[in-house]
Amino acid sequence: MELSNRLKRIPPYLFVELDRLKNEKLKEGADVIDLGIGDPDIPTPQEIVEVAKRALEKAEYHRYPANPGSLFYRKACANYMQRRFGVSFNPEDEVVALIGSKEGIAHFPLAFVNPGDVVLCPDPAYPVYHLGTLLTDGEPYYMSLLWEKGFLPDFSAIPEEVFRKTKILWLNYPNNPTGATADKEFYKEAVRLAKKYNFIIASDAAYVELYYEEPPLSIFEIEGAKEVAIEFHSLSKTFCMTGWRIGFAVGKRELVQALAKAKSNIDSGVFTAIQEAGAYALNNLESLVPPLREIFKERRDYFAQALEELGYELKKPSATFYLWVKVPKGYTTSEFCKRVLQELAIVITPGNGFGSAGEGYFRIALTVEINRLKEAKERLASLKL
Ligand code: MLT
Repeated sequence: MELSNRLKRIPPYLFVELDRLKNEKLKEGADVIDLGIGDPDIPTPQEIVEVAKRALEKAEYHRYPANPGSLFYRKACANYMQRRFGVSFNPEDEVVALIGSKEGIAHFPLAFVNPGDVVLCPDPAYPVYHLGTLLTDGEPYYMSLLWEKGFLPDFSAIPEEVFRKTKILWLNYPNNPTGATADKEFYKEAVRLAKKYNFIIASDAAYVELYYEEPPLSIFEIEGAKEVAIEFHSLSKTFCMTGWRIGFAVGKRELVQALAKAKSNIDSGVFTAIQEAGAYALNNLESLVPPLREIFKERRDYFAQALEELGYELKKPSATFYLWVKVPKGYTTSEFCKRVLQELAIVITPGNGFGSAGEGYFRIALTVEINRLKEAKERLASLKL
């Protein structure tokens, strides 16, 4: 059966492909160190698990969940936004629960993008911004994130006629894969442009709690952002809950409601027991997250220095658990990543998997224990470049 043209435009998902290569290596009996996907090895804090266990017993939760999310969960999301960023959202209609932020990000263009509409997507980036665009027959316009520009898009390089056709601008800070963060001036300019050209800012804040220095901003800390923006939050990385599939979106009522309408026709919401655990996690973020941050900080400090000692070039990130590293001279990204997998049994993510501007880089996810990072350093040291 012939695939739809839409699906034909889409490559296999980056991390599915990486998993396939990893499994081939495992079949050879290799001791693989996986620094590929951003999937924390640390278990979800036990307190959260206990809340979920008790919630599982509640028979009323065995029925369909409330579609936009239970009000208690949306209240926990709104409370978090108020405590952390000082911004108010009405839990009734300015918050929607997501089956992980990936789901919301992929579905959001369905609510606003018509064939031919432009969606501004960063490059390199989490692939779902442009994949969601392609699935709605929108036209991604790629904004290169360059080392020299602190991995922020250069809005002045985008032609006026592109802005005029733009429906959505995707932003993601703290940034996956580069680890960069954005300051107030950058967000102010984005909001100014969104108002001028009447487009939506969709901000992916999945890594906003994984910081080691200054707490990163929410776009809603910028005046006027609530007139143009929606922000996607994830519990996956913050609480090591990738497998639970829970996140939320907040923002301008009309944007949140449109996403909720699209979703209510596609999925049936998040299991209420998981929402109860999610609400507990958000309500207790201030005590649950610092110990997790400490672990990732130690790994970041160790491995950023280890790579520098081995002669690799990178900017030590102030947030996320990723290191974005330049490929050694004389190699393409694919050649280098293949050698590292074949000869050292280390999975790293090729930068060009995040878009063509990622050529020349590879990404390390700090999702293994320090002793495995030490082993990875030793293996990398043995590589004759
Ligand atoms: C990653 O960049 O590793 C992603 O977060 C994994 C994913 O969500 O597919």
